[in-house]
Amino acid sequence: MTRPPSADTLVWVGYCRAGFERDLARELVDRLGGEVIEATENAGYVRVCAATNEVRFRVAVQDLTFARQLILTREAAVQLISNDRVTPIVDALQAFMVLHGIDHVVDCRVEYPDTNDGKALSRAAKAIEPRLRERLAANHQLVGHAKFRAMVFLTPDKQARIGLADLHLSANDPLGIPRFRMPPDAPSRSTLKLAEAIHVFLGSGQDEAMQPDMRAVDLGAAPGGWTWQLMQRGLRVTAVDNGALKGDLVDNAMVKHLRTDGFRYAPTVPVDWLVCDMVEQPARIATLVAKWLANGWARYAIFNLKLPMKKRHEEVARCREIIGEAMEEAGKSYILQLKQLYHDREEITGFVMLPNRKARFAHHLAAHHLAASDEARRVGRPAPTGRKTGGDHARVAASAFSASPNTTLNTSSPSASVAAKKPALNLSSTLPRAAASPWSAKPLPKQKKRR
Ligand SMILES: C[S@@+](CC[C@H](N)C(=O)[O-])C[C@H]1O[C@@H](n2cnc3c(N)ncnc32)[C@H](O)[C@@H]1O
Repeated sequence: MTRPPSADTLVWVGYCRAGFERDLARELVDRLGGEVIEATENAGYVRVCAATNEVRFRVAVQDLTFARQLILTREAAVQLISNDRVTPIVDALQAFMVLHGIDHVVDCRVEYPDTNDGKALSRAAKAIEPRLRERLAANHQLVGHAKFRAMVFLTPDKQARIGLADLHLSANDPLGIPRFRMPPDAPSRSTLKLAEAIHVFLGSGQDEAMQPDMRAVDLGAAPGGWTWQLMQRGLRVTAVDNGALKGDLVDNAMVKHLRTDGFRYAPTVPVDWLVCDMVEQPARIATLVAKWLANGWARYAIFNLKLPMKKRHEEVARCREIIGEAMEEAGKSYILQLKQLYHDREEITGFVMLPNRKARFAHHLAAHHLAASDEARRVGRPAPTGRKTGGDHARVAASAFSASPNTTLNTSSPSASVAAKKPALNLSSTLPRAAASPWSAKPLPKQKKRR
């Protein structure tokens, strides 16, 4: 900081995997134009102030590769030294809500960093949370339709950061960590990685995006955790790996195992899904995924990028560029998100899709950007405008997408605007589960043989 922050300076607290504080701090500074206040290695969180207090609720956790959760706080912390820990928290929260003109919250959470030191605070958090909830309820400040959640973030130095999380722009899961049970029949623990990716990237649209009888290719499939996830959802999978598949996947009618090189394999007919978990240089994987989508071999992809290097931020930017350039060259609209999931260690997971008029679940991805634009109007700045075709929402969402560094929505074709036209739907209740894949019929032209 060039000057110390005042007690009222707005400060973002971002949670991350321990060891990734510098990466998250850098992302937040890029996004907010502010400065790092705290980014201690292995703390499991960072604190960054924005360049101006105007940004308020304009940044979404979905926009950031390395953030699990994002809450807005002020610099002044509550010291947890007296026996009554709840009253000072309630007082600070009331003051913060007044500052932002917020009368109600949907609920409250008391959280802590996902580190050994942080977990030692879980008992205190469990004790404080219900009492805070009681006090908010007694003040008639808890309402189901509120847009914010009250957040208290405890740190090992016995301080509590009091804040708010916009429901559209923050993670819903406690600590920003979705929990999954390890399915006993799955061949490997990495099955949880794909389960989490589907939950995070597709949300309520997963029944639409992954339908029974769709086709998928899994590159680097062995021993089969990802293939198993796809098969559980009724997809037919070509599993490409020289290694052996395990368990239920062996001699399974839903799975075709090909012992070949994932970089050389090309499908004979287009498939719906490409998933890829090969251990390789990230740029090579990004190039391969981009080729599949640009060639029309698949229209959705989930892929893992291993990041053992020091310059992770640069590597992520490079992969984003590789995919962006390939898609632009092919004249395809696309949505791209890169995220370090809870089950990712020194790696991140990517999702890319080609939206079309039928892909209604793209609204899930657009929703938080629409909310961000609403906030822009509320604080008196003009909402961004873009293409002249499509409705108001389409224009706002399209330009918000392209302005966001993590979620890229390329709008070179009208279909992208159409995809972002309406707010999120609960697709699981509106769509038939077993629609036939529109992508499985048309054969691809033969690929030229490599010399
Ligand atoms: C991390 S493991 C995949 C785990 C798998 N996703 C699961 O859920 O069980 C990486 C796999 O990629 C495979 N692999 C690496 N390079 C490959 C290549 N060029 N072609 C095919 N498979 C490859 C390895 O044999 C290994 O089985």
